[in-house]
Amino acid sequence: SGGPMVIKVVVHVVYNTTAQNISTAQIKSQISVLNRDFGAKNTDKSKVPPVWKGLVGNPNIQFQLATVDPDGKKTTGITRTKTQRTSFGTNDTVKTSAVGKAPWPTDRYLNIWVCNLGGGLLGYAQFPGGPAATDGVVITYRAFGTSGTAVAPFNLGRTATHEIGHYLNLRHIWGDTEDCSGTDFVKDTPNAVGPNYGKPTFPHISCTNGPNGDMFMNYMDYVDDDAMFMFTLEQIARMHATLEDVRSSLVS
Ligand code: ARG
Ligand code: ZN
Ligand code: CA
Repeated sequence: SGGPMVIKVVVHVVYNTTAQNISTAQIKSQISVLNRDFGAKNTDKSKVPPVWKGLVGNPNIQFQLATVDPDGKKTTGITRTKTQRTSFGTNDTVKTSAVGKAPWPTDRYLNIWVCNLGGGLLGYAQFPGGPAATDGVVITYRAFGTSGTAVAPFNLGRTATHEIGHYLNLRHIWGDTEDCSGTDFVKDTPNAVGPNYGKPTFPHISCTNGPNGDMFMNYMDYVDDDAMFMFTLEQIARMHATLEDVRSSLVS
């Protein structure tokens, strides 16, 4: 005990064009971001407004590209699959061997698919407790990692941070309604009316959450990558509860 919880990761690159077949360096840049954000080693957390500094926690979760594949063989933790599909949606076809790549055992690996997502979608995730065949997160190749094909303002690897938040049972901080009635089931994130975009100015007040307003710099909002830099203590408690229960087989 005391050490970080370590999650083995497999990245499935499903590409149609050579540009979509992203480099190993780009993949490693994403793993580095995850280890900074989920280790609270991201330096931009200094930009959290003073009133919320005490809520910034350390998830103490680390990610490693798998070194052993499901057959017990040595691996890079990266698979590469050519597809005839020019783009994918949220219907999980990228996770099928017919047009994409089937997951490695989802009880032992966090499966991350990188492909071309259509419709401006940056990524999507499956919450804990869903079907094994589709478990994991999907990220578009334009918002994965910090180099290569990653494009501003989504080139700091925060889409994967956000989606893995969902994978570990976090909801959007506005609770997915647009009338202040929703909840993220987390007490230390202020209720907010809806998503924030871009690079908001503090404070942005909604849902009678003044004077401090929305916690738009939380990873579970929709702001630009360089405008999000924190999980709260209670969000972290929720992720830990997931890793101690529904997803406990993932942790070594
Ligand atoms: N599921 C969200 C979307 O596709 C991800 C938002 C991630 N935000 C970010 N700054 N990277 O729109
Ligand atoms: Zn989301
Ligand atoms: Ca809340």
